[in-house]
Amino acid sequence: MSGRIDVLTIFPGYLAPLELSLVGKARRDGLLEIGVHDLRDWTSDRHRTVDDTPFGGGAGMVMRPDVWGDALDGVLVADSPSRTVLVPTPAGDRMTQAMAEELALLVSAGGQLVFACGRYEGIDARVSEHYSGRDDVTIREISLGDYVLNGGEVAALVVIEAVARLLPGVIGNPESLVEESHGAAGLLEYPVYTKPPSWRGLDVPEVLLSGDHGRIRSWRRARAVERTARRRPDLITGQGSPEIRLARPVDA
Ligand code: ADE
Repeated sequence: MSGRIDVLTIFPGYLAPLELSLVGKARRDGLLEIGVHDLRDWTSDRHRTVDDTPFGGGAGMVMRPDVWGDALDGVLVADSPSRTVLVPTPAGDRMTQAMAEELALLVSAGGQLVFACGRYEGIDARVSEHYSGRDDVTIREISLGDYVLNGGEVAALVVIEAVARLLPGVIGNPESLVEESHGAAGLLEYPVYTKPPSWRGLDVPEVLLSGDHGRIRSWRRARAVERTARRRPDLITGQGSPEIRLARPVDA
């Protein structure tokens, strides 16, 4: 059973890349259904207003809870085995491969993911509060990383791609999911090479041309461990993200 993904946005055109490449093919092959919806279809005024000024003052605009509530209720599928609303925001839980795997399991079991893409200063906090209190919906705020985008659309594209490629049948050779970075071993991937064997004075490591699969396996494992220790020691020690370790102390 294949599930579905819906995206609510004021810029449906931003999601056009979902027609392309592996995700586009998965849709055409019927492995995944994706709906993109214009949030303004749930407005009721002449100007199709989705935002207003923040209570308490301050810069920017906040997206209205009544429009978001009507839109989400309109898009959520009552008879789906599960419904998960994902709100991309820099204040959310950090997106990880484990999260992509969790979401892919929900979709492959026929569940629905709905991306609520905010713009401006974000969505009125009561929207998350309301859906957190409902037992027919799970709501989750997710962040791509510690930087700020203009809205949730690009984040939704990223999460959809990370999830879709894990769905059964989407990637031709599922073996390629096994050894990649952030895969089962929890390491970054080893460096890869192809023809020609010598290019601009740089040679492919001899071991890869040896045909000795045991040696190749241990060489690759050693390079993966070495690369991870150098670039992402936090993946090995499990202690903090590199950003946190490198951050200037707050009193400096
Ligand atoms: N929206 C704005 N910034 C974002 C981020 N870093 N991650 C997810 N959604 C966002």
